[in-house]
Amino acid sequence: MVVVLLDQTKPNKTQKNMKFFVDTANLDEIREAADMGVLDGVTTNPSLMKKVGAKDLKAHIRQICELVDGDVSAEIIATTYNEMMAEAQEVAKIHPNVVVKVPLILDGIKAIKSLTAMGIKTNCTLCFSPTQALVAAKAGATYISPFVGRLDDISTDGMDLIRSIVDIYDHYGFATQVLVASVRHPMHVVAAAEMGADVATMPLSVIKQLLRHPLTDLGLQQFLQDAEALKNM
Ligand code: G3P
Repeated sequence: MVVVLLDQTKPNKTQKNMKFFVDTANLDEIREAADMGVLDGVTTNPSLMKKVGAKDLKAHIRQICELVDGDVSAEIIATTYNEMMAEAQEVAKIHPNVVVKVPLILDGIKAIKSLTAMGIKTNCTLCFSPTQALVAAKAGATYISPFVGRLDDISTDGMDLIRSIVDIYDHYGFATQVLVASVRHPMHVVAAAEMGADVATMPLSVIKQLLRHPLTDLGLQQFLQDAEALKNM
């Protein structure tokens, strides 16, 4: 086996820039998010691929990689170690920016350990507990994806999980980046930023909501009216 050293150095707090990923497989939405100039990457999953009818995963992921200069997570569907390794290596070949998304199950953890040793970036998905996140970091995952919205859906505070993972990773200096997933609204993003999470992946609608404020709209309207009135004075 060829061993490639993967640079998983985590930026320190002062260098850190919170990353925004868009959580979609829709090319128009990705294009629109990229046009805003604040997009750092994309996350997809089989449900998002189904939503856009993307049957050819490779071709679709390649198109996404051409739209965004940043990490693009593409999920594998195999669930046994050997099959996961084979599929992950195929997916990783699609484009240098591809991050292989691996489910947080025993064989997935083993696969993450091997893929990391081979220099392939991974996103460990479907994380719902601090213990799962700890194991994923020990295996060397590039990203851990805790699903906050789905925890909120079952009356458990999803952001408590983020706080716990950020604290645990900080204690030990794990390189694994905390990627807040299943984001449903701007307050998830605010809390993630306050906690120092590395990445928030969100639907395009939430990215747009981040910059909306009625006082901005009212203030702008007034300034424009006054500028117009000034012309006629
Ligand atoms: O990144 C994972 C995300 O797509 C899950 O979101 O809204 O299906 O819980 P949601």
